[in-house]
Amino acid sequence: MTILSSEIRTKYLEFFKTKSHAIIPSAPLVPENDPSVLFNTAGMQPLVPYLLGEPHPMGKRIVDVQKCVRTGDIDDVGDNRHLTFFEMLGNWSLGDYFKKESITWSHEFLTSPEWLGIDQNMLTVTVFEGNSDAPRDEESAEIWRSLGMPNDRISYLPAVDNWWAAGPTGPCGPDTEIFYYVGNGVPHGNCATNPDDWMEIWNNVFMQFDRQADGSLQPLPSQCVDTGMGLERVTATLNGFKHVFDTDIFVPYLAKIRELAREKYDDRGARIIADHIRTAVHMISDGVVPKNVAQGYILRRLIRRAIREFARMGVTGVVLGELAKMVIETFAPVYPSVSTHREKILEEIQREEEKFGKTLADGTREFEKIVRGMKEAELKTGQSITRISGQKAFTLFDTYGFPVEMTEEIAKEHGLTIDRAGFEEKFKAHQELSRTASAGMFKGGLADQSDKTTALHSACHLMLAGLRQVLGTHVAQAGSNITEERLRFDFTHPEKMTPEQITAVENFVNEAIQSSLTVTVVEESKSGAQTRGVSGSFWEKYPDTVKVYKMVGGNGKVYSEELCGGPHVENSLKMGTFKISKEESSSSGVRRIKAVLQ
Ligand code: SER
Repeated sequence: MTILSSEIRTKYLEFFKTKSHAIIPSAPLVPENDPSVLFNTAGMQPLVPYLLGEPHPMGKRIVDVQKCVRTGDIDDVGDNRHLTFFEMLGNWSLGDYFKKESITWSHEFLTSPEWLGIDQNMLTVTVFEGNSDAPRDEESAEIWRSLGMPNDRISYLPAVDNWWAAGPTGPCGPDTEIFYYVGNGVPHGNCATNPDDWMEIWNNVFMQFDRQADGSLQPLPSQCVDTGMGLERVTATLNGFKHVFDTDIFVPYLAKIRELAREKYDDRGARIIADHIRTAVHMISDGVVPKNVAQGYILRRLIRRAIREFARMGVTGVVLGELAKMVIETFAPVYPSVSTHREKILEEIQREEEKFGKTLADGTREFEKIVRGMKEAELKTGQSITRISGQKAFTLFDTYGFPVEMTEEIAKEHGLTIDRAGFEEKFKAHQELSRTASAGMFKGGLADQSDKTTALHSACHLMLAGLRQVLGTHVAQAGSNITEERLRFDFTHPEKMTPEQITAVENFVNEAIQSSLTVTVVEESKSGAQTRGVSGSFWEKYPDTVKVYKMVGGNGKVYSEELCGGPHVENSLKMGTFKISKEESSSSGVRRIKAVLQ
């Protein structure tokens, strides 16, 4: 059978619509209100508050396709299965149906001739074998049996396979996973006896608990279902392909790259380019721009790596745009933001291509010079030298625009390593010299923000404190998004603010700014901060020790204390004047403010 990825996506949404699910759009790739991660990495991430009990405006049955980015494996992209961007199909019960409906509907969607029409003999399932947290999941097994799944196709597996959690704390529960036969000949065995012959295609998680920081489990306010089916993988599997790069999702890009590279075409390089361009387009359409910091740094790495792979195949000049256009056309019907931001996407990619295209060749020569220098030193000293110094890696970054991970990759190709700690020291010293904000490094990239964004972030804290003072302590942050130009902030409040209230909040913030406040950060235990009434949302996503930003005026008044990952201004003198430019409804019970610093 041949089934296109677009057909699977559409059918999935349609099927769950017939089961009274509301189709909701994908959340943007960059989490709105969670500084602890750079990108959404699973379908459930944007829905965590609703799994924890907050009512969802679209009701209790939801279906979606969520854009996800996982950056932990960037270096592995190029093999035949790793991807940085993928789409997760998911259906959700937020305190509504549970195991029976979830399993029955998954079975119906997969096997009914009206939907995917898969021969049930191609499927096997796993259920949770039980431990001290939760009992053996006989209930799910029984539901599978009632649908005709033979006993020897139901495997009971331990928590490592059949327990799903978003992180060390938060919503979790046992799951049942559905596998498709990818072995030779007639399907046989199951996940316990022949694990390599079966490929997981769908995971139904029965969310029942909220794992606490001390490891204990609290029941969730109501039982939920979170299912996840990776579109790329399911498309490959159902079409009998071993690799995602053989599917309709990737074939057109690979063909285009082959056309451009001709005899220098290289499989690994082409896969890297095809993967990275998809990710780059979606990142830019969700507001990320290439930078040396945070999300923008990951984007820059992806685009520059794609440029380098093209250059290795002898393709230089402005070419990525051709592929970006293909990505935009493919996704326009699914994620309208790629069309809305078409020009911006093409512009950013072209700018990056022009910028890096100029320095790549020189940087490569510089790299070769470094290697020659190391060889000569080796000959002189008689000692083996395999580590490139932090200073040299920093020069490649600073002068030639080589992301340090790229230098590491090139070094590896030469059997060398780099002194990463040394690089980071140089990088930090450089940051201090250029007086950019002080965030330093964190996993996945270089954390930092522009001065304007940082100031608006600090203004957000003051505004929340002001809102709580003027409107009452029921006000809690429900989302935020900051660009260099403005802040957007959603908060819980039942009615429109009056002009007097808006002025009062502006005055609160401006008084704080003018009092020449200083910002200090203290680390304290999460429970201590919570008990003290420190503002914050998404507590469950923070570790046991949290950073609390405290803003104290020159007059000694404590204006704000809030849980946060930073960064913030050190003092308020250069922040300017705070002004609320818009106050409007965001969704039921949630107001939205747009504000600027002038
Ligand atoms: N949260 C589960 C997963 O990502 C199901 O969506 O696999």
